[in-house]
Amino acid sequence: MLFGRIADAAAELQAEAYVIGGFVRDKLIGRPSGDADIVCVGNAIELAHKVAGFFSPKPTVSFFKNFGTAHIRIPDTGAESGILDVEFVGARKESYRSSSRKPEVISGSLEDDQNRRDFTINALAISLNKENYGQIIDPFNGLKDISEKRIQTPLDPLSTFSDDPLRMLRAIRFASQLGFHIEPATFDAITEDAPRIRIVSQERITEEFNKIICAPKPSIGFDLLLKAGLLNIIFPKMADLEGAEYIDGHGHKDNFYHTLQVLDNISLKTNDLWLRWAAILHDIGKPATKKFEKGHGWTFHGHEVVGGRMVPKIFDQFKNPLNEKMRFVRKMVELHLRPISLTKENITDSAIRRLLFDAGEDIDSLMMLCEADITSRNKLKVKKYLENFELVRSRLAEVEEKDRIRNWQPPVTGEMIMEIFGIKPSRQVGDLKNIIREAILDGEIENSYEAAYRFMMEKAAAMHLNPVK
Ligand code: CTP
Repeated sequence: MLFGRIADAAAELQAEAYVIGGFVRDKLIGRPSGDADIVCVGNAIELAHKVAGFFSPKPTVSFFKNFGTAHIRIPDTGAESGILDVEFVGARKESYRSSSRKPEVISGSLEDDQNRRDFTINALAISLNKENYGQIIDPFNGLKDISEKRIQTPLDPLSTFSDDPLRMLRAIRFASQLGFHIEPATFDAITEDAPRIRIVSQERITEEFNKIICAPKPSIGFDLLLKAGLLNIIFPKMADLEGAEYIDGHGHKDNFYHTLQVLDNISLKTNDLWLRWAAILHDIGKPATKKFEKGHGWTFHGHEVVGGRMVPKIFDQFKNPLNEKMRFVRKMVELHLRPISLTKENITDSAIRRLLFDAGEDIDSLMMLCEADITSRNKLKVKKYLENFELVRSRLAEVEEKDRIRNWQPPVTGEMIMEIFGIKPSRQVGDLKNIIREAILDGEIENSYEAAYRFMMEKAAAMHLNPVK
């Protein structure tokens, strides 16, 4: 219906109109499609106004006169959000530069416009003109590339990437999202041009990076990022995980490929970007803590603590949010060894209570991460770990049912302590609070206000603290 109206509007204005880019690509592949881009050989702003006039109520037309672009939002039952974003752009000759603020636009033909696009699969257009309505215009064999699952640039790849180096990341993002391969000459050009990614803003890089993380099998993208030499520029700490060192015949596993396997494992269970980030970062502290101990082999003591401390800086570098999302990822990294350290012998109530308290409402995410972390090729070992996790899970459920620790706060707060003893915020307040919490978690005293109060009075007396009332 929308496209029919665009066709009517274009005919009235004696202009040409085409749907182009991602919308066409996704329709042909059969994936849910997002915004629709309309290329107009003629005045795109006029076209948008005319199309808007066919709808009631008439949608607002936002436009940028200098760029000759306009945008409307129309209700669409087929779209996920119920709204379809439609962008009208005049056909252009010059190269694509989304970061450029240069207002002058050299208009051109549909062919010029297709030439300047990033990949053959994104250069496909569908005519909205009366004489050949619905015809696919495919000058670069994009249809063949879709059916053969190939990503390649329409023109010389080096010139396509030099127009906008972000396209190197886009190639890898599409390869991961769609499960396509990158044609060798295009991939060679990415490898050659990789250092130019430095001129792209972090925000644009992060957008693509996070899309690679959200792909059905993200390892495809990360492997390509590493091989192209892009990963060591955009995320050197992750590239540092690669490789296995040998001393006296002892090697350790390649932590990069282990991390990718964990990431793929967790991606089968969750689409949550931040839990996937936790998988990427769970062993990020390993290179910094790696040691070879004679007679013992390789160790990575404390890598979870060191890794946890690295999270804020990495999030800052990526301009990811520095809020509860970051705290969640940090917590996952810091706690990722805890469930596995609970062997059958030491699944005591107090160890379970402690884990529930530290993980809080994120305990299910943590368990998911720990299960994804089992990447041994030894089937027996995997079976043993999984069985143990089952046991941990049922013990978690049992203790939670009994003690309700998951969203628990100790019955005596810092404020109460200050009021009862008439003291200001100080180390003593923190110490007393911790002693009470630990005693409850250890099962030394009951989880009730009365028990905690009695216990607090005993401990306070030993600290020479007296209640004011
Ligand atoms: N494009 C390009 N070079 C870029 C970005 C975009 O040539 N660096 C062109 C492509 O033809 C692309 C179209 O602009 O199909 C729309 O871009 P965009 O909306 O960013 O991407 P989509 O291809 O629609 O894919 P997605 O919606 O998944 O981001």
